[in-house]
Amino acid sequence: MNQHQKSTGFGGGTATNFPVDEIRAMFPALRKAGDFIFLDNAGGAQVPQAVVDAVANHLVDFNVQRMAKYRHSQGVDRNIEEARESVAMLVNAYRPDEISFGMNATSFIRLVSVGIGKMLANSPEMERDEIVITDMDHDANIATWLALEADGARIVWWKMREDGELHVEDLKPLLNDRTRLVACTVTAHSIGTMVDVARVGRLAREVGAEVFLDCVHYGPHALIDVQAWGCDYLVCSGYKNFSPHMGFLWGRYEALRRLPTFKEDFIPDVPPYKIEVGTFCHENVAGMNAAVHYLEDLGRRFLPAGDHSRREALAAAMAAIREYEIMLAGRMIAVLKKHGATIYGISDESRLNNRVPTICFNIAGIAPQEMAAEMGEAGIGLRDGHMFSPRLMARLGLSMEHGAVRVSLVHYNKVEEIDRFDRVLGEILSRRK
Ligand SMILES: Cc1ncc(COP(=O)(O)O)c(C=O)c1O
Repeated sequence: MNQHQKSTGFGGGTATNFPVDEIRAMFPALRKAGDFIFLDNAGGAQVPQAVVDAVANHLVDFNVQRMAKYRHSQGVDRNIEEARESVAMLVNAYRPDEISFGMNATSFIRLVSVGIGKMLANSPEMERDEIVITDMDHDANIATWLALEADGARIVWWKMREDGELHVEDLKPLLNDRTRLVACTVTAHSIGTMVDVARVGRLAREVGAEVFLDCVHYGPHALIDVQAWGCDYLVCSGYKNFSPHMGFLWGRYEALRRLPTFKEDFIPDVPPYKIEVGTFCHENVAGMNAAVHYLEDLGRRFLPAGDHSRREALAAAMAAIREYEIMLAGRMIAVLKKHGATIYGISDESRLNNRVPTICFNIAGIAPQEMAAEMGEAGIGLRDGHMFSPRLMARLGLSMEHGAVRVSLVHYNKVEEIDRFDRVLGEILSRRK
């Protein structure tokens, strides 16, 4: 059992009794798409009806500016504060005002990195000038930090091993009293590997460094816990978490209070206001709130009758999702192996606990682009290309032009969909014999 598999103490669901058909019925896009199979969920997941309703209701009832003294505007303020409380619950924040809403994860990574760059440039003799980044991350969490070299930062690479994992033992020797920050993913959006970020947090704290976590890809798959992980900043994209296009940032209150940000003079210099400058997409934030409630409602199905906190319900949902998704990952990997695929990252059944069902592969004799196009024609949506990870492509010996194929599943995918993928893949390959 790794940190992402801790028992909730509530038994959770099991892969066999996971109510996938009931869940699918809650997602209008799945109903409407008929037998189309969504296997590109890492690029954005579908949303439940409750999220559609929350967005629509916000637009009908509250499509006005915040902070005025009339009913509609007060409704906007209330929706945003309720969403802040829900997302604080989702990540286990210390307090709701540690959550900021905005456009997407990339802009938040940039906002934090620019602030840290400013602090670096102003610190006496740049006493902590080292930033640790990885070659497994999305480029959003690499290029943004590399840009700080212009402010005098020294970049230190924590490299993935050949087994497709970031080993925390390899991080240890990279840390010292000059380390300012470790920026890493919680789970690779490309090859699906999970990282033991609680250990990253512990090691970083021992040398007085901060930790910035890219939680974009982990979010839909397991329970986020910023307190257990001991991190300082964390970003998510709502649209990967069964919500519309938006992003959010969590940061320790004190870290956010210190962080220099751009803001107009009339904005209070405190989080979240100093971060949420300008108007963001209020209706999508209402949708994010509904997405958290969706997960809670799902979690309550796995809990014994009685009173349970919102956080307990979320923990139960994510434990059940995790168990079900490990089963999906195993099935998909078995299919790919049967067809002779080269799987990048973890493919060993005994290590499925260290990955999510996001699987990157190639099959000899067929370019990723052809595979994706033929799958698309057969009604299966998946992704091909460089996965927005030039460094990882280089590590895997793949070209930016061709890259690989990625299938990414979430908890509304079914075994029957993997079976159809298996059949279609067989047909595509047999046409090439
Ligand atoms: C792991 C990871 N980090 C960052 C990003 C960028 O997120 P956004 O599109 O919200 O800026 C993505 C997007 O796919 C991602 O998968």
